[in-house]
Amino acid sequence: MTPLLFALPDSHSLLAPLCRALPAKEGRLEYHHFPDGESYLRILSAMEPGQRVMVLADLSRPDERTLPLCFLCDTLKELGAGWVGLIAPYLCYMRQDTRFHPGEAVTSRSFARLISQRFDWLLTVDPHLHRYHALSDLYSIPAMAVHATPLLADWLKARREPLLLVGPDAESEQWVSALAQASGHPFVVGRKQRRGDRDVQVQLPDLSAYRRHTAIMVDDVISSGRTMLRCAEALTEAGLKRIECAAIHGLFADRIEDQLQQAGVRRLVTTNSVPHPSNGLDLTPLLLPPARRLAGGEPPSPPDNQTGAGR
Ligand code: R5P
Repeated sequence: MTPLLFALPDSHSLLAPLCRALPAKEGRLEYHHFPDGESYLRILSAMEPGQRVMVLADLSRPDERTLPLCFLCDTLKELGAGWVGLIAPYLCYMRQDTRFHPGEAVTSRSFARLISQRFDWLLTVDPHLHRYHALSDLYSIPAMAVHATPLLADWLKARREPLLLVGPDAESEQWVSALAQASGHPFVVGRKQRRGDRDVQVQLPDLSAYRRHTAIMVDDVISSGRTMLRCAEALTEAGLKRIECAAIHGLFADRIEDQLQQAGVRRLVTTNSVPHPSNGLDLTPLLLPPARRLAGGEPPSPPDNQTGAGR
């Protein structure tokens, strides 16, 4: 039986390549919002009993997308799906991983519960694991993470000029150090102070030895973009003239691309986990082997619940 792969929202640059390569049949659904904002959802694809189904979800605007995602999964199961797996290249709600202040919701836990109650497995790319060490600390379903480091490392290895990899904050150290090791370039890590969603300060160590290098700022997520913006300003202040920016997940919630350019960022590169013009790194080859394994059979049992996230 050929598995079905649905996308929500209904297009994603990874949908066609994954369908072709898995192979899977593109799931068809009708989806719209009523005038009051409620969702209407109808599955148009024929469902065989025990149908294996995957949903490719862009979770970059999670609050408006999670409810439809739940409706989709519930409906697929009501219509006979044997199991439903979630491919969420960007996994949202990973950064509120503790109660930083009394009374705060630890949304990472609530979101993981919501997904684990419905879906049978989860496949994602570089989830923001900081205080949690593995997805299995959060998700009770089999959950796998693949890492984009090899993709970014290949991109960096092809460069001829001297590069300096720059992680803007302590949380980025795991990505930037892995990348430095894989690509053979030096790296530094800054210190970030966040006073609000868009109020960020980044301090960098002494960079006088690297003034002739091209600085590549590296982070897992660009959300509002303020971290990268302040980091670019700090690099310029330190006398670096060529600055680029690379991230695994580019959310660009504040459409800050122009400001980054004005701050001296000459190039912006992201993976296609979240569709954006900066998508220069294709995740298809990384997602394919685990997706093929998961699509091909029974979902892995919880003891195989590996994140592969250790670095
Ligand atoms: C947090 O530690 C993440 O790695 C990113 O640095 C952060 O999410 C970026 O947020 P923003 O783009 O809003 O500054």
